[in-house]
Amino acid sequence: MSAVRSVTVLGLGTMGAAMAARIAGAGFDVTVWNRSPERTVPLRDVARVAPSAAEAVEGADAVLTMLFDADAVRAVMATALPAMRPGAIWMQSSTVGTLASAELARRASAAGVRYVDAPMLGTKAPAQQGRLTALLAGADTDLAELEPVVRAVASKSVRIGDAAPAASGLKLAANAWIATITAGIAQSLTIADRLGVDPGLLLEALDGTAPDSPYAQLKGRAILAGGFEPQFEVAGLLKDVRLARAETERIAPELLDALERLYGETADEGAAGDDIAAVWRAFQHAAPVVAAAERRAG
Ligand SMILES: NC(=O)c1ccc[n+]([C@@H]2O[C@H](COP(=O)([O-])OP(=O)(O)OC[C@H]3O[C@@H](n4cnc5c(N)ncnc54)[C@H](OP(=O)(O)O)[C@@H]3O)[C@@H](O)[C@H]2O)c1
Repeated sequence: MSAVRSVTVLGLGTMGAAMAARIAGAGFDVTVWNRSPERTVPLRDVARVAPSAAEAVEGADAVLTMLFDADAVRAVMATALPAMRPGAIWMQSSTVGTLASAELARRASAAGVRYVDAPMLGTKAPAQQGRLTALLAGADTDLAELEPVVRAVASKSVRIGDAAPAASGLKLAANAWIATITAGIAQSLTIADRLGVDPGLLLEALDGTAPDSPYAQLKGRAILAGGFEPQFEVAGLLKDVRLARAETERIAPELLDALERLYGETADEGAAGDDIAAVWRAFQHAAPVVAAAERRAG
């Protein structure tokens, strides 16, 4: 087993930038590339910045992709995959769904590259703190070699199997839950508001009870504060809800359909780049009332 020393990170969005900084901080020799070069600026002190994806991956022991969706990964890896060192490991952490992950694994294999299906659970703050949960499907030896890299970004790992796309399947299930719980707390805050109750009392009443969850409290507080600074953007979760809907035809579609509509409306109204808590807005359509935050302030 050879040790991974050099890591290339392709994609420096909310997650990729934070993960690249963590990997560099753990002592790896890091190279980064991003389609929009300005996003490389904050990493220039800790990583080598490459002018193209193909040049970024040359000679790297491991390549981490953290791009928006499957189309972005296909576009970037069309040039980067042929430039990877044969036998290098491709850690694919973008959320792309099972069909695309299986396809990417086949492309990797044809290029003589080892593929690890490695989507991440957790948003911006856990990524910055190295507290993501890594969902991992790959061969034992590949995962063993990658383990120090994974440890730099994740405080917990869940092994799902020895080949793609099992981890990507679990990721879609987890994100359907995140979509549900966020829409759920937005709905209940709206119900309280419409029934003349201070919505803040909902979070207080739920606090510490069996149906409570730290995530519902987090998103509930964001909604009450009206602060939708992105931790996880609406556009990303909408993409994942659509993937879950498209890849699970044999389950009742009603809830996924409703989620797709709610997050879709939120995105259509100009909030695609806001945090997913902005789904609260989709519940305000029928009869706009004074926003909870304004009422509390007033
Ligand atoms: N944010 C979260 O909480 C979270 C948590 C877990 C997993 N994820 C998943 O992780 C992945 C990255 O998420 P993120 O929040 O970091 O996304 P993001 O902030 O929107 O960043 C997306 C990245 O993809 C790049 N990109 C998009 N289309 C491209 C294309 N056609 N060619 C080349 N590059 C392209 C962007 O480059 P530019 O800078 O040039 O636009 C940027 O580097 C997604 O699959 C997401 O679903 C996100």
